[in-house]
Amino acid sequence: VTISDGGLAWREHPDPVPGERDLVVEVRAAGVNAADLHQARGLYPAPPGYPPDIPGLELAGEVVATGARVSRFSVGDRVMAVVGGGAQAELALVDEGSAIGVPDEITWEEAGGFPEAFTTAYDALFTQCELTVGERVLVTGAAGGVGTAAVQLVAAAGAVAVASVRSPDQRDSVVATGASFAFSPEEAIRHGPFDVALELVGGSSLPSVLSSMATGGRICVIGVGGGGSAEIDLLSLMARRVRISASTLRARSLTEKAVIAARVENHVVPLFASSKVRVPIEATFELPKASDAYERFSAGKKLGKIVLVSPGGR
Ligand SMILES: NC(=O)c1ccc[n+]([C@@H]2O[C@H](COP(=O)([O-])OP(=O)(O)OC[C@H]3O[C@@H](n4cnc5c(N)ncnc54)[C@H](OP(=O)(O)O)[C@@H]3O)[C@@H](O)[C@H]2O)c1
Repeated sequence: VTISDGGLAWREHPDPVPGERDLVVEVRAAGVNAADLHQARGLYPAPPGYPPDIPGLELAGEVVATGARVSRFSVGDRVMAVVGGGAQAELALVDEGSAIGVPDEITWEEAGGFPEAFTTAYDALFTQCELTVGERVLVTGAAGGVGTAAVQLVAAAGAVAVASVRSPDQRDSVVATGASFAFSPEEAIRHGPFDVALELVGGSSLPSVLSSMATGGRICVIGVGGGGSAEIDLLSLMARRVRISASTLRARSLTEKAVIAARVENHVVPLFASSKVRVPIEATFELPKASDAYERFSAGKKLGKIVLVSPGGR
């Protein structure tokens, strides 16, 4: 998939050449993320070292070659990974530290939609917000890829997920996914106080989320689709000793990404392998039809992920 003149084209590129610690992966499935749409519009360039014109932050596929110092994976292994770019292609490079083995039970489609959403949700909830058993968690924008991952992880950890979902048609599905409750954004904030909030909407949502936090609450801001700025009540923040953190995955170093990948492999992949967490897939499109997939993504009102798959099911 090639970004060309603000649109997408399906073009030939030279095969990627692996560095010493890279895997060359024949991509079977690659999830679509909002960042890809921003990148295609020229608003979110790939970090140095990644193809500037091939989008894609997550993939699953088969290892077809390895760099000289790769030790954990071999040709033929099924892997999935978060990458800095270049995932939406027939062949992609993956640093071996970022790669996670795909359990035999998992389909390519689900594996291709797993890494970005589950890594983001896991890191925000457990590493940054230190979520523990029995706590009450608000997830805003809960019907999307990261939101559906988050409500499942909250439930798996023995905590209570209150999902904020703007589309009424999607609330039952989000409860079926694992949320204890799903409400409109206005109603959801009345069901606190929350120990943890995963803020996937951003500026338009943060002030009301802050007002619903418990003393000692932790908020992690992960998405800004609903605005990149907000006016917040600092007295209320102080009085309840609420912490606000924020993060992106893409900007982290390979070493930091390897630490997160190891945590996800140890703590989340066993739940994935035993179907305790799933990747809800709204739709799949073949890689050459990426522009249709991006259009579907932009239309919103999807449950979980849009996933690109290799042409002809190879
Ligand atoms: N920081 C990071 O490392 C990182 C990593 C992954 C994702 N993200 C960001 O996190 C956000 C969520 O990612 P995702 O993959 O879950 O995206 P997604 O699949 O597009 O889901 C976004 C969800 O938020 C809802 N939403 C959007 N704007 C809203 C608003 N103004 N009010 C209420 N609900 C709203 C959408 O509802 P509708 O369907 O009704 O539009 C949708 O259910 C995105 O902004 C993404 O860019 C950040």
